[in-house]
Amino acid sequence: MSEGVQTSPAFTKRVFSGIQPSGGLTLGNYLGAIKRFVDMQDSGVETIYCVVDLHAITATLFDPDTLRQQTRELAAGYIASGLDPQKSILFNQSQVAEHTQLAWIFNCVARMGWMKRMTQWKDKAGKNQENASLGLLAYPALMAADILVYHATHVPVGEDQKQHLELTRDIAIKFNHDYGVDFFPITEPVIEGAATRVMSLRDGSKKMSKSDPSDMSRLNMTDDADAIARKIRKAKTDPEPLPDTLEGLDDRPEARNLVNIYAALADIPPEQVIAEHAGQQFGTFKPSLADLAVAKLEPISSEMARLMQDPAEIDAILRGGADRARAIAAPVLERTYEIVGMVR
Ligand code: TYM
Repeated sequence: MSEGVQTSPAFTKRVFSGIQPSGGLTLGNYLGAIKRFVDMQDSGVETIYCVVDLHAITATLFDPDTLRQQTRELAAGYIASGLDPQKSILFNQSQVAEHTQLAWIFNCVARMGWMKRMTQWKDKAGKNQENASLGLLAYPALMAADILVYHATHVPVGEDQKQHLELTRDIAIKFNHDYGVDFFPITEPVIEGAATRVMSLRDGSKKMSKSDPSDMSRLNMTDDADAIARKIRKAKTDPEPLPDTLEGLDDRPEARNLVNIYAALADIPPEQVIAEHAGQQFGTFKPSLADLAVAKLEPISSEMARLMQDPAEIDAILRGGADRARAIAAPVLERTYEIVGMVR
């Protein structure tokens, strides 16, 4: 629908992204999202990162203390991974009411057919759609509001969020068209690097996910060195050695996944991983990968644990971020209401 539409040059480049506090952070979240958020923070562009607690209750109504704990843990994960709350705006979605206010307008712009086509809706609602929450269906309109309430132009995400970002573009296009304005930017998804789709360690055809019943399928950001090494040692592979070209991995999804993880952790292209490890058996490659993963992830998990000892400090950081976020969002919402014809 939105193919070929370019972001209007009238909008200043601004980055926004978010993660749900719906359980522990995985290596997929880290490599596909957080690490890239941190890389973008020093690019001279304003960066806004969110803990999307309102999204987290669309599939499961958590025990309140659990949700609070997960929210703080995710904030700690962001900071421990290098996100600097001075450089980036870091906040919790429910503290900036403008997200839900704009989402209501977008609920009225988006069409039922668009929402029902979302693969995430189909996957999560499953066969029992009548029993899914209305929030789960409306989820992508809230996501569009998260982004557009800041007039964000660039959104770094993993591959699985691509369809939601296309919908965000469609909502912006329809709003601009229906009201005859050029008010919302047409957001660009930023899906780059070797780790935009980190796969399960047990099944190379499935995404690594916090909701997978098998803990062996994922690396959690809170795993200790032993767990990391054990999970990598037991990761599914094939009996062949590593090839000497990337194409040699074409029909080997599990092997490809481990090479991609290595590349993303080491900040090198997958071609270089292949060049350095060609001909190795997994009995040799896996311990190198485990050492690299422990070296990169352990400092983050121990810093997360340290930050979690002072929840009041985390809350203060989130409140400060929310104040800064609101200062950007409030005038955008106000102007939206005027465009729509709400008497102010
Ligand atoms: P969520 O919380 O499921 O995931 C957060 C981010 O992690 C990425 N990710 C992965 N990347 C690579 N490989 C994987 N296995 C993997 N698993 C997860 C996701 O692509 C995402 O970037 N709807 C969003 C949250 C959201 C949002 C937003 C994102 C709400 N509002 C506005 C961007 C902008 C979600 O559920 O992500």
